[in-house]
Amino acid sequence: MTPAVEGKAKVTRMGLDEAARKPQERLADWLAEDMAAVNALIRLRMASEHAPRIPEVTAHLIEAGGKRLRPLLTLAAARMCGYQGDNHVKLAATVEFIHTATLLHDDVVDESERRRGRPTANLLWDNKSSVLVGDYLFARSFQLMVETGSLRVMDILANASAVIAEGEVLQLTAAQDLRTTEEIYLKVVRGKTAALFSAATEVGAVIAAVPEDQVRALWTYGDALGIAFQIVDDLLDYGGSDAVIGKNTGDDFRERKLTLPVIKAVAKADAEERAFWTRVIEKGDQRDGDLAHAIAVMQKHGAMEASRDEALAWVAAAKSALAGLPAHDLRDMLADLADYVVARIN
Ligand code: IPE
Ligand code: IPE
Ligand code: MG
Ligand code: MG
Repeated sequence: MTPAVEGKAKVTRMGLDEAARKPQERLADWLAEDMAAVNALIRLRMASEHAPRIPEVTAHLIEAGGKRLRPLLTLAAARMCGYQGDNHVKLAATVEFIHTATLLHDDVVDESERRRGRPTANLLWDNKSSVLVGDYLFARSFQLMVETGSLRVMDILANASAVIAEGEVLQLTAAQDLRTTEEIYLKVVRGKTAALFSAATEVGAVIAAVPEDQVRALWTYGDALGIAFQIVDDLLDYGGSDAVIGKNTGDDFRERKLTLPVIKAVAKADAEERAFWTRVIEKGDQRDGDLAHAIAVMQKHGAMEASRDEALAWVAAAKSALAGLPAHDLRDMLADLADYVVARIN
């Protein structure tokens, strides 16, 4: 069967409505019971009897939703590997807690004002509350993972937490530096974003005790998916709509970050453009119209398209990692999710 015909057959089998829905919605439906347990556990553990500021801040962020991609990855990996226990729920909640903690910290570092369609906690309360409640959520995530009793999953998630922080710090020192290479960018993205995606899928496979080649395949899928996801997130910061992404666009430019499309445009800059990048990124002298000009220069050099192509290559890598795993509905949904990550741009 050619891919086109196969695609059509799949659409007919699923029904048109089903096919039109976003892959993460289909994953959430398939995993609805597990996800309800994860959400209940998150709600239970985000509270604190002793410091009322904690539930105020956590509820503000957690009740705003979020795509819950990372817990879905853990649940999907565990279930497609045939896991029958209940540690996958704890691990999915752990992963979302780590994610939420990093968001609280990240919005302080990036001085961001919008997250999940709401004002950020640092704006509504203050940086101190965001940092401390972020620490609290990190600690809660450790408590949750300990309850699984698995040293190996604790090793994976503790390691991911360290790597995320390293990625954020590396990005901090690479910001404002026009010498930042694509290699450094990849290191940042692998750390700050992909490390949690790959840990999320890996722990799902590990608790299901599948053979190591399957654990490795799910790690590789998470790693590649996370990299594609962050490249797209960085593209959306220049071309997305605030309403759709629930965050303000232009934050990366204001923070003078060397994201992939900027690195690609800087590499092709003529003398005049080089002077522009030096002024806005290195010197931080940004004026009205600079963001629009930056976008125009990036477009002129095809930097957005080239970045999108790179995201697509990571999507292909993610999908080919899945090909080595046994057939399963969830495996197909994870493959569709990889496609959707880049389709978000359009
Ligand atoms: C935001 O992640 C942080 C990045 C890695 C870009 P998500 O886009 O998954 O955030 P939520 O959880 O859906 O809000
Ligand atoms: C997200 O980094 C990664 C972490 C939160 C660790 P970004 O700063 O690029 O993500 P957004 O755009 O604020 O969600
Ligand atoms: Mg940020
Ligand atoms: Mg950031």
